[in-house]
Amino acid sequence: METIQPIAWINQVPFYEVSMRQSMLKLHRDLPPTKIWGYNGYFPGPIFRVWRNQMIRVLWKNELPLKHFLPIDTTIHGAEKDKPEVRTVVHLHGSVTPDMSDGYPEAWFTNGFKEVGPYFSLKIYEYPNKQPATSLWYHDHAMGITRLNIYAGLAGFYIIHDTEEQSLGLPNGPFEIPLLIQDRSFHSDGSLLYPSQPDPPVADVNPSVLPDFFGDTILVNGKVWPYVEVEPRRYRFRILNGSNARFYRLSLSNGGPFVQIGTDQGLLSAPVNVTELLLAPAERADVLVDFSSSFGEEITIKNDAASPFPQGEMPDAQSTEFVMQIRVTKSLSSPDHSKLPHTLTHVPKLKESTQYKTRNLLLNMRTDEFKRNIHLLNNQLWSEPITESPRLWNVEIWSFINLTEATHPIHLHLVRFQILDRQPFDQEIYEENSKLVPTGSRVTPDPNEQGWKDTVRADPGEITRIIVPFGPYTGLYVWHCHILEHEDYEMMRPYVVIQ
Ligand code: C2O
Ligand code: CU
Repeated sequence: METIQPIAWINQVPFYEVSMRQSMLKLHRDLPPTKIWGYNGYFPGPIFRVWRNQMIRVLWKNELPLKHFLPIDTTIHGAEKDKPEVRTVVHLHGSVTPDMSDGYPEAWFTNGFKEVGPYFSLKIYEYPNKQPATSLWYHDHAMGITRLNIYAGLAGFYIIHDTEEQSLGLPNGPFEIPLLIQDRSFHSDGSLLYPSQPDPPVADVNPSVLPDFFGDTILVNGKVWPYVEVEPRRYRFRILNGSNARFYRLSLSNGGPFVQIGTDQGLLSAPVNVTELLLAPAERADVLVDFSSSFGEEITIKNDAASPFPQGEMPDAQSTEFVMQIRVTKSLSSPDHSKLPHTLTHVPKLKESTQYKTRNLLLNMRTDEFKRNIHLLNNQLWSEPITESPRLWNVEIWSFINLTEATHPIHLHLVRFQILDRQPFDQEIYEENSKLVPTGSRVTPDPNEQGWKDTVRADPGEITRIIVPFGPYTGLYVWHCHILEHEDYEMMRPYVVIQ
């Protein structure tokens, strides 16, 4: 993956131009070239590396064909027959961005900006980057077809650096490697396979949205089951789960730990050793792995998360159980002076208060007119009036009550938050009379979840509480499940930060 450079500096602001284009790429030695849609024609897109507090501007252009090559369900909101097929809009996930540059799903545009969505307002997006060093990612967010556009390849890393992070002496340069993990399926001619029907198929709708998509092949940075050759030294991996619906529970075949130093929104207060690393779609983990005593070893990154998570099928022992291989074959090019600091940054712990507004938000499911499952946030469709309107600078507690059987990774645009706790409740009683009866105590999140987050796993049968300071902008944003098939089919709601 290449680092993108600004094409100009205009009034001390770096200016970038990115074109979404179709291209044919080799994703594996044994696979014929695959048609993808990528930023600047790359899959994944080029990496942005920016500095905290240095604003940048980006002109995002759509130079894609007018026909989609993946199956569009025209019964779902925003993707109806009267809409242009290939609509795009870019969201920088995890960024603190004014709403006009945030990539609102209905702010889409087509090739050459010939047509635009009802909320379109800006061609050139502005990213202030006023937030701590971390790994963000940019991806498509067009209403009703996000799952297809991201599947086609529209995703890339956006890394924010700052002096605090640089002063820690972490591995950098060639020893800092972003890893974007995704699952895909292929036809034998090398083309991407995204089913046009769930299994079993839905009567009367073709193509139809799936309840969720799981590929039979794992890709890292756009390559099928790749390997990387490393030196016997400490490395930093920025791991991102960019899959539509698949969760990963990662481990190293030599049993070695990941030393986690950061979460979605930046550094943890101190490193946390984990031998298993669970990542839902859109979650990130910043980890260090020490290969200094592994010279000559071949280490596999493995996955053992069920799909759907947590109660679905276990990964296949021949395929989806494997993510990639790390070969410690290179000789040491220079002494390893990187450090593993004992403390990383100050993460002030947000405490709950009775003064804070609490919102109980259901994650639930019903069936649609075609007998398909439709996931909802608090029983509401995207098109219903806005119900979440926090005041600027207010702190709120959002309590997700998961009535389904799956974990939903819930993401809020604009803000960063902390996880307060998770608590089991009696699902049957709730379904009978809407009474919330806890069946256990409130459990604080794992140590590697006790940092700033922008995506939280809300587990089935549990109440997951997050604490969220709203700001620094007012405006129109969204919150949603990051399982893309859910997001596209109504598990997304607008929200507004008001003055
Ligand atoms: Cu990763 Cu609303 O997005
Ligand atoms: Cu979901």
